[in-house]
Amino acid sequence: MAIAIDDVTVPSRLLGDEPIALAELVAALSTALDLAEGQPENHAVRSCLIAMRIAEEIGLPPVDRKTLFYATLLKDLGSSSNAAKVSALFGADDRSVKRDLKNVDWSRKASAFSFALGHLAPGASPLQKAMQLAVMARAGESGARKLTEVRYERGAEIAQLIGLPEAAAAAIRHLDEHWNGAGHPDGVAGHEIPLLARIACLAQTVEVFVTTEGLDEAFDVAVARRGTWFDPELVDALLSLRDDRSFWLSTYGPNARAVLSRWEPNESDGGLPRVVDRERLDLVCLGFAQVVDAKSLWTFRHSEAVSEIAVGIAQELGYDAELCNDMRRAGLLHDLGKLGVSNLVLDKPEYPTEEEFAAIRRHPDYSERILRRVANFERFADVASAHHERLDGRGYHRRLPGRELPQEARILAVADVYEALTANRPYRDGFPRAKTLDIMRKDLGTGLCPTVFEALGRWLDKTAITPRVEAQLAAIERAYAG
Ligand SMILES: [Fe+2]
Ligand SMILES: [Fe+2]
Repeated sequence: MAIAIDDVTVPSRLLGDEPIALAELVAALSTALDLAEGQPENHAVRSCLIAMRIAEEIGLPPVDRKTLFYATLLKDLGSSSNAAKVSALFGADDRSVKRDLKNVDWSRKASAFSFALGHLAPGASPLQKAMQLAVMARAGESGARKLTEVRYERGAEIAQLIGLPEAAAAAIRHLDEHWNGAGHPDGVAGHEIPLLARIACLAQTVEVFVTTEGLDEAFDVAVARRGTWFDPELVDALLSLRDDRSFWLSTYGPNARAVLSRWEPNESDGGLPRVVDRERLDLVCLGFAQVVDAKSLWTFRHSEAVSEIAVGIAQELGYDAELCNDMRRAGLLHDLGKLGVSNLVLDKPEYPTEEEFAAIRRHPDYSERILRRVANFERFADVASAHHERLDGRGYHRRLPGRELPQEARILAVADVYEALTANRPYRDGFPRAKTLDIMRKDLGTGLCPTVFEALGRWLDKTAITPRVEAQLAAIERAYAG
């Protein structure tokens, strides 16, 4: 039964004109990277705070502190780029493998082996585990190195794309190098490792151990790995912070993100500005869209394509340039929450089970929570996260009825469905344009908005949309060949 759809709100800006603080934006988005890493919320924020406190202790110049600030918040930009392979290699949830990997000394062969055994295909039969072990053995040490290489190279590339200084990209690339040269990806040692990378490496390890084991245990790990993983001088600086009770209490208190602003170096110290201009905002959105789309081969360029289609529809509906820009940003960030879904589910070759669908249905909720952490992003977050809602109220995650779905959200819903149906999925091929529109037509008035759908048709008639399926297939072939 079709429902009334006339009572849509008048389109208006998704983002206000209020200035957006770069630190606040990046801190909010860093919680999406926490999801990809399987870490608790604010892991990156707390790593940044610890790095900044160490930087203060060693007297790092302010301009370098500012670079360190953003490099540490965004240290996991490349995390999603090896998620699919990590999941395939272990036959396990990539997020739990990544989370637990941060707690082991993987540079010691015995620890690495017992870690691998402990995380192989959980819940599988002994035979399946043995087969998974064979997959891992075939990949070997060079496979493991390649995995980390991809991650850190991609992380550094995205850092550059969003306009971070070269030194920040280098810190991200060398995040897992060890003082003794046994780290990844290049195996460089000692002072050859950029200082900012050495600080970030120590800070993130301390953060993980404080969270999971406690402050004393974290200091024990730092001491145990002094001179192997970590720069001895930095460990000594860390040890002198042991009694800074107010620092540890505020870092691990309920307002870690609010504390962050106290540690951001001043504008006058040079480097990145405090306020994000529209161009940089666009780059940050594009960078995070690439992080999201890299999570699974099956979502190759999905966010970029959704934003392109959404803008096309918005133009057809007469939206002005500013609102079209907002629609592009919302399209780029709509699936941020997918970083919190296991690749076992996203890449499953069969149709997902009900339980797996329940995991998938949580992703817009994650997107909303992440985006709402930025001041003045309320409406933007509402629209971006409503892309799976339906006019009949049977969508997700809020199950909003049509009268509460603004036209901007309806546009994203149509763009998302069109993009998803034309793309390949592990369990089916992408549909051609005419077939896709036929499928969508059956859902008009109950799921999708007819006015928006007509605008999509008009836009498609005059658009040579990128042949994404061919590009997707080429990417999949490249990935499996490599
Ligand atoms: Fe989605
Ligand atoms: Fe989507």
